[in-house]
Amino acid sequence: MLKWLVLIPALLATVVGDVPLDSNELVTRNDEPLDYRLPEDLDPIHYDVEVTPYFEEAPADKEPFTFDGVVTIAIRAVKDNLNSLIIQENVRDIISVSLSINSTGVPVLLNQTNPFERIRQFFFLRVNLADGVTLENGEVYSLRIVYIGNINETPLSRGVFRGSYRDRNGKLHWYAATHLQPVNSRQAFPSFDEPGFKSTFNIIVNRPAHFGETYSNMRLRESYPEGDRVKEIFHTTPRMSAYLITFHISEEFTVIADNKNYQESYRILARPEAQGQGEYALEVGPPITKWLENYFNISYYSMEEGMKNDQIASPDWASGATENWGLVTYRELRLLYEEGETNSVDKLNIGTITAHELAHKWFGNLITCKWWENVWMNEGFASYFEYFAMDGVDKSLELEDQFILMYLQSSLSSDASANTRALRHTVNSPAQVTGHFSGISYSKGASFLLMLKHFLGEDTFKAALQRFLIDRSYENAIPEDLYRAFAIEVSNSQQVTNVDIEAFMQYWVDEPGYPVLNVDVNTNTGLISLKQERFFISATAEPTDQVWPLPLTFTTSNNTNWNDLTPRHLMTDQTYEIQLEPGLEWVIFNVQQKGIYRVNYDTQNWERLATVLKSDYNNIHHLNRAQIVDDVFALMRSERIPYLLGFRVIDFLKEDTSFYSWYPAISGFNWLRNRFLHLPGTLAQFDDLLYQFLDAVVQDLGYVGQPGERFTRTLNRFHILSFACNIGYPGCLSNATEQYNAFKTANVNVDPNLRRHVFCTGLRQGDYDDWSNMRTRRLNSNNQADEVVMLRALGCTKDERAIREHLENILTEEVKAQDRSNAFTFLYMGSQENANVVLQFFKERFDDIRRAVVLQSSFEGVISNIASYLNEEGLNDMENWLRENQSNIPEYNVGINAIASARNSMQWGTDRAELIISALRGSASVMMLSTTLLIISLMIVMFR
Ligand SMILES: *[C@@H]1O[C@H](CO)[C@@H](O)[C@H](O)[C@H]1NC(C)=O
Ligand SMILES: *[C@@H]1O[C@H](CO)[C@@H](O)[C@H](O)[C@H]1NC(C)=O
Ligand SMILES: *[C@@H]1O[C@H](CO)[C@@H](O)[C@H](O)[C@H]1NC(C)=O
Ligand SMILES: *[C@@H]1O[C@H](CO)[C@@H](O)[C@H](O)[C@H]1NC(C)=O
Ligand SMILES: *[C@@H]1O[C@H](CO)[C@@H](O)[C@H](O)[C@H]1NC(C)=O
Ligand SMILES: [Zn+2]
Repeated sequence: MLKWLVLIPALLATVVGDVPLDSNELVTRNDEPLDYRLPEDLDPIHYDVEVTPYFEEAPADKEPFTFDGVVTIAIRAVKDNLNSLIIQENVRDIISVSLSINSTGVPVLLNQTNPFERIRQFFFLRVNLADGVTLENGEVYSLRIVYIGNINETPLSRGVFRGSYRDRNGKLHWYAATHLQPVNSRQAFPSFDEPGFKSTFNIIVNRPAHFGETYSNMRLRESYPEGDRVKEIFHTTPRMSAYLITFHISEEFTVIADNKNYQESYRILARPEAQGQGEYALEVGPPITKWLENYFNISYYSMEEGMKNDQIASPDWASGATENWGLVTYRELRLLYEEGETNSVDKLNIGTITAHELAHKWFGNLITCKWWENVWMNEGFASYFEYFAMDGVDKSLELEDQFILMYLQSSLSSDASANTRALRHTVNSPAQVTGHFSGISYSKGASFLLMLKHFLGEDTFKAALQRFLIDRSYENAIPEDLYRAFAIEVSNSQQVTNVDIEAFMQYWVDEPGYPVLNVDVNTNTGLISLKQERFFISATAEPTDQVWPLPLTFTTSNNTNWNDLTPRHLMTDQTYEIQLEPGLEWVIFNVQQKGIYRVNYDTQNWERLATVLKSDYNNIHHLNRAQIVDDVFALMRSERIPYLLGFRVIDFLKEDTSFYSWYPAISGFNWLRNRFLHLPGTLAQFDDLLYQFLDAVVQDLGYVGQPGERFTRTLNRFHILSFACNIGYPGCLSNATEQYNAFKTANVNVDPNLRRHVFCTGLRQGDYDDWSNMRTRRLNSNNQADEVVMLRALGCTKDERAIREHLENILTEEVKAQDRSNAFTFLYMGSQENANVVLQFFKERFDDIRRAVVLQSSFEGVISNIASYLNEEGLNDMENWLRENQSNIPEYNVGINAIASARNSMQWGTDRAELIISALRGSASVMMLSTTLLIISLMIVMFR
């Protein structure tokens, strides 16, 4: 699955309580443990699933947007004396249940009064055999269930859901699709809905005759008319987990791009109006598939006879994309690229997300984590190859380097709180399962693999993956299976000897958090003393006695080598010493930041790094500059280094214009700046100082792209100008205004890579008409990526009438359910003052908003986000309102907590405003002095 839903590159949306179950339907079983897991006493071998969907115009005896279902499961009993069967279901209604011996068809008698029970709290269906009747261990039975399912109103409920789009003539078209990951097959058919159970599947769909061909995991085997329907029977799937099953039933979805190679078929499917937007996805998909086939030495198309590789774009979709075998589904903007409309960031995501989903074919589909406690075994691998497989196909995207910013640093950020969790983390309920599809499983999982690759060498790493894939294909796996494969390959390896790789891997998998390496350099003796401890972002967190096995790389001023990434030391104790020659100028640990740790140095080494960076930042590798910027912000925040020192170290950002230095800088500065929003005086001073940092990079990048420029330069401009305009950097505002005016008055096209800040700046300064024109332009767009850019821009208006109208629109079909909670956030990101207007609307309409965003977790997110942008007056207003209406607002506590945390964050800023401003000022003047000296001394040299 791919999240990447929420703002910025926040990954997958966490979907808590993502089940279409009314809470008052719950039946509590007080006598049973709170266990949602199936017993392992049955082995589901094969399913036949037959589905008959009803859309708007259902026959009199059917409900619109439901389906009739029949599932027949061939099940082997693997325990003695079973007198009941438990499987999972969360369908609308169970009509009948019957059981027979598969080979003979002889019925097995069920309890007459109580043949089956629906245990709704746990989504169990228990089938009760008659008294004295038991299943024979080893025998295969056939369980047949006739049921009715829901076609849910929005994709956010997952399961089988309806999506819609309007064609050129404004006609609304409905379609039905499925999103069964991670715990939602049970909504499509009663099933063994856990990743560890694998079976083969035959899917049969009885579609309305006027609909187009249904798409499913496998090719269509046969189809024929039956009444006013067409029966479509698909080929048998590979042995797989139930959550990877899918079907897509629509009037007119079609193939918009096709490699026309039946043996190795690769096709892009979409609504017909998206014709022409599938070329980029088709250009990258087949080479990525080839790259992965070579890397793993297992061909995709031989995974099952007649395997196809379809990618379908769904206008409505809960996450970024989902790796259904043979038919990957993407949110439209993650697959469709329109030249001149889609920006480079979204284009890049099409490539990387394709790589992510295709990598799942080996890690996720062929091998599946046995249970979601190890979801990193699916998502960590897919995230790693998301970058490295796409890098194998297009080097110009610099994905090997970008990985450090997008995954390694984001892992350091999400894994730094006291309540973070380990990669392997016990989960049980559906809410816990979806919660573990989190940053840790993706970013730390992927970073762990990168660290392993450099530690062991790529040959060993690759051989271990191949061994693991051969061992566990078509089965499930636990981390120990992976450790075993690595242990065998490490024992054959030259690069690493005497390493207990199983213990190494286990520690990283089972321990939450990661270390900071404290480095103390004695320049007189050359002795480097190292000490590791758990890094917490909070300065007041309790230390732990965790000790990570830490592969170390470093380089020094004397013998600078940025390209030797092989660790020569494995630190296995809390302290460690390395003896180097005396007279070192400086050292840097974690070369190119391939290891999961932060580094803190003694003051002298930091000072020397500051000097060398200031004299010429190119002395330090761009990824270590990225590391230094990211570490320095984190070390200042956690009070491990003083602000004055930290800002002195990163003062080189006033000359450095690299994407790699600036990406972490923007988030570091933004975090601090957000703590001063309530202090106008401080904010103005902070912004003035920030503008000085921005001068060089903005001047270097310019306000328009140049044809043929380096890809990361385009990305850098995208992020820098969004940031600069957002904080009111004068040059950015005037240039964006000029571009916006030309667009508005003369319809001059705005480069898609500049639209985010140009549109936002224009609407922020504009009036109701500017907003209204942008809304019309959005409604006429045929490209979802561009629509989302405009949705974001609509939130930038400050016109109160426009805001009110926009808020109303967010609750209608005009904004898709999947975009609604972001649409609220765009309003305050665009203009902070809008939070107070949103609060008034929220107070009037909170029940409608709750319904519109569908998921409880999204609604709670809306509440927390408003609070985080309100000023003190707004917070008081919100608090009073919550207290007065406490009994009507189940989310009362969420609101009160969000208010408290907003106040804490303000207090944090208030307490440190003076310190931070003077440090930011001071660092510049101190640096000015030392660079002046440096320049003078250089001139002296030159004049000699
Ligand atoms: C179940 O019975 C059917 C019909 O006899 C047969 O085709 C199928 O192979 C059997 N399945 C298993 C798993 O034994
Ligand atoms: C059905 O189950 C009940 C207990 O739930 C039991 O008392 C009864 O004897 C069973 N009936 C048959 C026909 O097995
Ligand atoms: C790839 O797999 C084949 C068997 O399918 C094997 O003979 C070959 O050695 C493998 N190649 C590598 C590089 O592992
Ligand atoms: C390292 O560089 C310093 C300064 O240039 C020099 O004094 C020292 O001898 C060098 N050490 C080694 C081992 O090269
Ligand atoms: C905006 O930037 C472009 C390209 O850098 C430049 O040609 C144009 O003159 C600028 N306009 C203003 C008002 O700064
Ligand atoms: Zn994934």
